[in-house]
Amino acid sequence: MRIAPNNSGLGARILDLDLLKPLSPADFRDVLRALGQYGVLCFPQQDLDAAQLADYGKRFGSLEVNVANMFFAPGFPEVMILSNKRDAEGKPIGLNDAGQGWHTDMSYSHDIALANVLHAKEVPLRDGRPLGDTQFRNQHAAYDDLPAEVKERLEGKVAIHDFQKFWDMMRIRPGSIRPPLTDAQRAKKPPVRQPIFRDHPITGKRVLYCNPGYAMHIEGMEKDESDAMLDYLFRHQTQAKYLHSHAWTPGDVLMWDNIGTTHNAMADYGPDEPRFILRVQVMASLDYAALAA
Ligand code: SIN
Repeated sequence: MRIAPNNSGLGARILDLDLLKPLSPADFRDVLRALGQYGVLCFPQQDLDAAQLADYGKRFGSLEVNVANMFFAPGFPEVMILSNKRDAEGKPIGLNDAGQGWHTDMSYSHDIALANVLHAKEVPLRDGRPLGDTQFRNQHAAYDDLPAEVKERLEGKVAIHDFQKFWDMMRIRPGSIRPPLTDAQRAKKPPVRQPIFRDHPITGKRVLYCNPGYAMHIEGMEKDESDAMLDYLFRHQTQAKYLHSHAWTPGDVLMWDNIGTTHNAMADYGPDEPRFILRVQVMASLDYAALAA
């Protein structure tokens, strides 16, 4: 396999690797290292079904079954369908607004995720240009660039993250098909404490692990102080220099680091411009430092 970094701090293409074949131990280690180093890996021209995508994801950790999973591949609850398409009766066949706002998947969970793996089957096109990019921001760099006094002030601090925050932000948007969360879903995903800075399990380096999708407040601070600090962190981490945008091509498998990046799905296409993507969420369930060594 060949790794072609895009030299913008985030993003690399992994070429000459057929994900239908089991990863060799050497390729597994190189992909894991590249995930830590480049954050977002595109494997172009793949053709996996739901089972094959799940098999690939499982090499890197256990797969999550989302607490509010409304749409998944038949027989594979761990393979979510992200799509704005509808069936012959007009019913949605996928979640049409997944990730449309800056966030980090699973920061709302006690057990966090290592990576997302998405596989594009259909990508909306307008005037020959793909729509529905997925954007990323580099949280290794965002941490490194924080002023020393902010690093000192927030070292060891915890923010409370809540699954309901992002869910409800999506629900109030026009065209949302999300129902209110049930009490049972709320009980399964209560608000959790997350360190604002954490050591990345592959790189061993510090990252800013706080995102506007789920972080509610900083423990131990008055509301005004916490709001101001979160606002500062969210503005800091959204600087253009941290951005990498992935323009999809059908067949792409995109694997991204869910600890060292934040992401946002661009909502720049309409209901008649079909997008269909399969997704698995890989939990941070293995010893990645040892596996990448
Ligand atoms: C997500 O946040 O997992 C969805 C990203 C996308 O559909 O581009």
